[in-house]
Amino acid sequence: MQESSEQKTSLIPQQKGELLSKQSIVSRSVVKNLIRSAMLAMEKAYTPYSHFQVGAALLTKNQKTYTGCNIENASFTPTNCAERTAFFKAVSEGERNFAAIAIVGGKEGILTDYTPPCGVCRQVIREFVDPKSFLVILAKSENDYMLYFLEELLPLGFGPEHM
Ligand code: THU
Repeated sequence: MQESSEQKTSLIPQQKGELLSKQSIVSRSVVKNLIRSAMLAMEKAYTPYSHFQVGAALLTKNQKTYTGCNIENASFTPTNCAERTAFFKAVSEGERNFAAIAIVGGKEGILTDYTPPCGVCRQVIREFVDPKSFLVILAKSENDYMLYFLEELLPLGFGPEHM
């Protein structure tokens, strides 16, 4: 476990002023299961151009998991990231309530570093979650991960409530 003390104590104020701890959203065993699912999903990545494989596992508030991988395209622009694949699969199945997403990635599927979500994926996630409580889990292994609230990765994000 390489969760730093700064990570453990990083609290995001909620609407009524109370503070929420990251580990209160998902237990360690749930985090590990999500990371394992993301690793399995990564094996399905279609990456003939970048060879950079990404896997994601999205947890609903009802404890269901939707996985996704990146799917590249010869025309490059239509490439879909793993996180968006997972979200689009879940939303297209009627899911709207999400708790957390685990993300893993690496060249040829070798996890040498954390893989943070791209800006487009952060915005897509923002559409469907509460940024102050939705957790993004960046992992190198089941025991080596970082936890972030979406709010930390996309401060002052533009969301549906602004429309
Ligand atoms: N990729 C993802 O799947 N998720 C991210 O958030 C970062 C980038 C994919 C897109 C592309 O297939 C490959 O990684 C290299 O950019």
